[in-house]
Amino acid sequence: MKTPMPSRRHALALLAATPFAASCGGNLPDPVAAWRSPGAGEADPRRHALAHAILAPNPHNRQPWLVDLLGDHELVLHVDLDRLLPATDPYDRQITLGCGAFLELLALAAGANGHRAEVTLWPEGEPQTRLDGRPVAHVRLIAEATPKDALFDHILARRTNREQFKNRAVDEAALAEIANAALPPGGNAIGSPAPLRVDWTRSPEQLAALRALAWNGFDTECATPAAYQESVDLMRIGGAEIARHRDGIALEGPMIEFAKTVGLLNRRVLADTSNRFTRDGINAWRPLAESAPAYVWIVSLENTRAAQIAAGRAYARLNLSAIAQGLAMHPWSQTLQEYPEMAELYAEAERLAGAKQGETVQMLARVGYGETIRPAPRRGLSEHIRA
Ligand SMILES: Cc1cc2nc3c(=O)[nH]c(=O)nc-3n(C[C@H](O)[C@H](O)[C@H](O)COP(=O)(O)O)c2cc1C
Repeated sequence: MKTPMPSRRHALALLAATPFAASCGGNLPDPVAAWRSPGAGEADPRRHALAHAILAPNPHNRQPWLVDLLGDHELVLHVDLDRLLPATDPYDRQITLGCGAFLELLALAAGANGHRAEVTLWPEGEPQTRLDGRPVAHVRLIAEATPKDALFDHILARRTNREQFKNRAVDEAALAEIANAALPPGGNAIGSPAPLRVDWTRSPEQLAALRALAWNGFDTECATPAAYQESVDLMRIGGAEIARHRDGIALEGPMIEFAKTVGLLNRRVLADTSNRFTRDGINAWRPLAESAPAYVWIVSLENTRAAQIAAGRAYARLNLSAIAQGLAMHPWSQTLQEYPEMAELYAEAERLAGAKQGETVQMLARVGYGETIRPAPRRGLSEHIRA
């Protein structure tokens, strides 16, 4: 009997989808183990909170968080400077947002476990214009019975959903609800005031412009060699590579394994945007940008490191509250990236988001209804605790 050949179209569509399904044989670690009962059996509340924090959304899934445990109740968060994204994130703004998301999940988990996280941001000052070795935050966990924030319950179900969304409108009320939940109760920043606003659109005209913007940004990134190569270098092709690295951009599924085995798919092919296979894979993202019944964005009134942390916290909450509402979310950050080839689209993103002079669009994401997807890989708690 002839085995049906998978269609090229199908294989390429799979290239566009990155959520990872774990089924790796051998002795390789399970890439999604961190999502199962995080913190279970941990007597140290910091380790319990950190086991949740490492599930935070973060750019290119770099998971750049390094933690020193101090004494019995404190910890210091650092960024692993080997895990930055210099081409697409030249000022480490997005990496800093990912640290904000990490701190938000840490605070939510500590709160659910009877502790308040007292966070001091940038205790040795804010690094400009790139991050340096200085710590992002000092955190002290203080035993205190506080009501659990309901968003904690959605940490394990939160996803970045890169599927095509259903042709179903999102209610205005649901968008207002998630925007409201994005700003944590009692203030919108840890440590220092860094005002933010969360906005959205469902209007056909603005949606059409944002869909085009999102796609043009993606296409421009793919046409910018340094930016595109940065992504290619972080692509994990097939189950074994994904399990070995447990970070980056996971390309997985039976068709990926097949294409890799027969030599159709490797890093060299992916790096060559003139290759038809790769070009089709890039084009497969277009319907994703277009299947967006709503876009949502976060604007900060200043662009200090504290504001970036606040925006990252807000994005984590936005993503969690979307999940709570049954909504899927997928950031499109290309047009918010600060390199010359993107400058024109960056200005267009600012205009469409209504950012005024001096304001910064920190996140832009599509929102809609999608299929349930599996979690993205995580390296595991032990990879993050330095001391
Ligand atoms: C600041 C920031 C920017 C991001 N930009 C993008 C993006 O442009 N495209 C995308 O597909 N995902 C983007 N993401 C999502 C991450 O890729 C995702 O969080 C990571 O791969 C881990 O997956 P998870 O969120 O499902 O746990 C971004 C996340 C953050 C925090």
